[in-house]
Amino acid sequence: MEQDFDDVLSNEVTDDQEGRDEVSLRPQTLATYIGQARIKHELAVYIQAAKSRGEALDHVLLYGPPGLGKTTLAMVIANEMQVAIKTTSGPAIEKPGDLVALLNDLKPGDVLFIDEIHRLPKVVEEMLYSAMEDFYIDIVVGEGPTAHPVHFPLPPFTLIGATTRAGLLAAPLRDRFGIVARMDYYTTTELSQIIDRSATIFNTKIQEDGAHELALRSRGTPRIANRLLKRVRDFAQVGGQAAIDPATVDRALDLLAVDDQGLDEIDRKLLTTMIEHYHGGPVGIRTIAANIGEEVNTIEEMYEPYLLQIGFLMRTPRGRVVTPAAYEHLKIPFDQEEN
Ligand SMILES: Nc1ncnc2c1ncn2[C@@H]1O[C@H](COP(=O)(O)OP(=O)(O)O)[C@@H](O)[C@H]1O
Ligand SMILES: [Mg+2]
Repeated sequence: MEQDFDDVLSNEVTDDQEGRDEVSLRPQTLATYIGQARIKHELAVYIQAAKSRGEALDHVLLYGPPGLGKTTLAMVIANEMQVAIKTTSGPAIEKPGDLVALLNDLKPGDVLFIDEIHRLPKVVEEMLYSAMEDFYIDIVVGEGPTAHPVHFPLPPFTLIGATTRAGLLAAPLRDRFGIVARMDYYTTTELSQIIDRSATIFNTKIQEDGAHELALRSRGTPRIANRLLKRVRDFAQVGGQAAIDPATVDRALDLLAVDDQGLDEIDRKLLTTMIEHYHGGPVGIRTIAANIGEEVNTIEEMYEPYLLQIGFLMRTPRGRVVTPAAYEHLKIPFDQEEN
């Protein structure tokens, strides 16, 4: 089991340093996984119950914005279940045969992790239905006159699906997940803990108020907190500081154009474009995307959820609207008449 888990981790390693760090920073147990208290509590119960029955854990769907710990949690679940995990992603499974090969490789109780599960091809998704529900697949072997159906039983396994867009999942697929968990943005306190933990792994010292300041500016997202920590660490090191303090965090993040709400240049461009060209909205997402030169998907998955969460954007039936709080943050006078 140890071996399998390590294999998966090493598969995750990409060429760049960011990828390597992301792997080493991943907590491996529920106890060391910070935040998401409700999900962890639930999972701990289901995991213990499944283990004591000697069964595979029910299928799990994890959804929420990127960087909140979905992949990490999938690995934690497999580790806690003491089973192997095979990881793949929706777009990587191109045809039914690819799925058969993956399923064929599973031992009883193993986890199959499908990232970006909303991007599975339809034919593959439909095959998953019987696999998830009754642990079998029916496949057609051969072509033309020799084609014949084969009933293929599978070992009981756990499918963990991750998606940034639960709304894009077909209902029959969504309904086959017994455990559905929505990942929330992290609180400042939780992010401070994550930053502390990462700093220890990086062998870097950070003051408590330094970690707090960094947490405030990390958009509630561990991946962003870790990335900013690395940049701030560079500034502290070059500045010859023994420990990262709030002033260093400020200076580094100002240079990186990350403001005191954690907004970056694209967030600000999105909001100011809406204000300057559309009186703050309502504006359709496509119009916004075309105006700022970003993909609709990128805006919907990475930018908009946080701006909605902190109350800088509102969704209305006629489009997105910038709120007075955002005007205030951007120091743009909010003209009631125009809205
Ligand atoms: N709960 C957590 N506790 C500590 N670190 C976390 C937590 N969640 C995520 N991280 C860190 O953030 C990084 C991004 O998490 P990841 O699981 O890849 O997010 P997602 O799959 O949702 O995009 C991970 O490398 C990990 O270091
Ligand atoms: Mg992921």
